[in-house]
Amino acid sequence: MSNNVVNLKEIKKHYQQALPNQMVTAVVVLDDELNICYVNPAAEALLVKSLSKLYRLPIEQVFYNTPINNARLRQLLTTGQEFSDSDVTIEFFDQRKITVEITASSVTFDQYPHILLEFKQIDHQKHISAEAFQQQQWESARDLIRGLAHEIKNPLGGLRGAAQLLDLELNVEQKEYTAMIIEQADRLTNLVDRLLGPNQLPVMKLQNIHIVIEKVFQLTKFDNPKNITLARDYDPSIPELTFDQDKIQQTVINIVHNAIQALDGASKITLRTRAASNKTINGKRIKLCAEISIIDNGPGIPEHIQSTLFYPMVSGRASGTGLGLSICQTIIHQHHGKLSCISRPGHTEFTILIPFDSEIK
Ligand SMILES: Nc1ncnc2c1ncn2[C@@H]1O[C@H](COP(=O)(O)OP(=O)(O)OP(=O)(O)O)[C@@H](O)[C@H]1O
Ligand SMILES: [Mg+2]
Repeated sequence: MSNNVVNLKEIKKHYQQALPNQMVTAVVVLDDELNICYVNPAAEALLVKSLSKLYRLPIEQVFYNTPINNARLRQLLTTGQEFSDSDVTIEFFDQRKITVEITASSVTFDQYPHILLEFKQIDHQKHISAEAFQQQQWESARDLIRGLAHEIKNPLGGLRGAAQLLDLELNVEQKEYTAMIIEQADRLTNLVDRLLGPNQLPVMKLQNIHIVIEKVFQLTKFDNPKNITLARDYDPSIPELTFDQDKIQQTVINIVHNAIQALDGASKITLRTRAASNKTINGKRIKLCAEISIIDNGPGIPEHIQSTLFYPMVSGRASGTGLGLSICQTIIHQHHGKLSCISRPGHTEFTILIPFDSEIK
């Protein structure tokens, strides 16, 4: 009996010591002056800093702009009343943002009151449902615009034809007007064709993705009036993939051009490839795919267009038509892949995922 009690005590001690290090929940312990005195490994990963860097740091120097401020924490120390907040956005001083659920409770260590903060990151779940929603929105916006473009295209052809016929009946001075009608009709036809998107099915071929990326790299290098630094970081282990070379090249060029337009000479664009595992594409878990990233250190995508970035006619530039990324999105869909973007000032990253052949049923 007594043996049993001793064993249980030891077991308890053993697990109590080991568990905080294995936990998925990030745990931060604050002393009564609201300085950090312990973080478990999950918290080190969440805060992207080690315990040695965080030890004795006031919590307000780790993140800001959160509802978990010093006033609330002090109140917790005096009243002992635990609180939790879900859907809290934490902003770090390096501009990184995460969404978490936080529980704050008071505990006593070595006879002194402390605060235990537990963080559970919920970005990932939120991200997947937001992604499905955006995908639906993107498809309806694209269909609406395509329908409209189609309706404009036919009468436009008639208008141009009639102007050409009229042109035959007119004298030289009057021909100036018909020429203007024809020129403007051609401009509109051009726009409408871009609105309709790629009209041929992709020509799929099994080939090496680096042929395309390297071509874009060379093209950009030789046409680089702003003298932007170009870097490449390839993963040669990516096996051959089935894709349409022209279309994937057009996609990468569109993204690189956007970056060039946003950057100045002191900036850098990196073309990176990786073999990536366990990604979600259209709600489906894909075990293996090629990941192509186009990364720049420019000003970032304007905040007000970030949520609708891939919709047709969304542009942050005065002279932009806002069709480049929408066309890229259509092309990547044709390849059963995914195009996404994260952006903050100083770091914009477009990622193209194309599943390995074995993943496409
Ligand atoms: N790397 C980037 N850095 C900053 N802003 C970007 C970047 N890439 C895209 N953008 C923003 O996204 C907007 C949409 O890009 P998109 O290619 O769809 O259209 P556009 O470039 O405006 O016009 P188009 O490509 O049709 O000529 C751009 O206008 C720009 O504001
Ligand atoms: Mg563009």
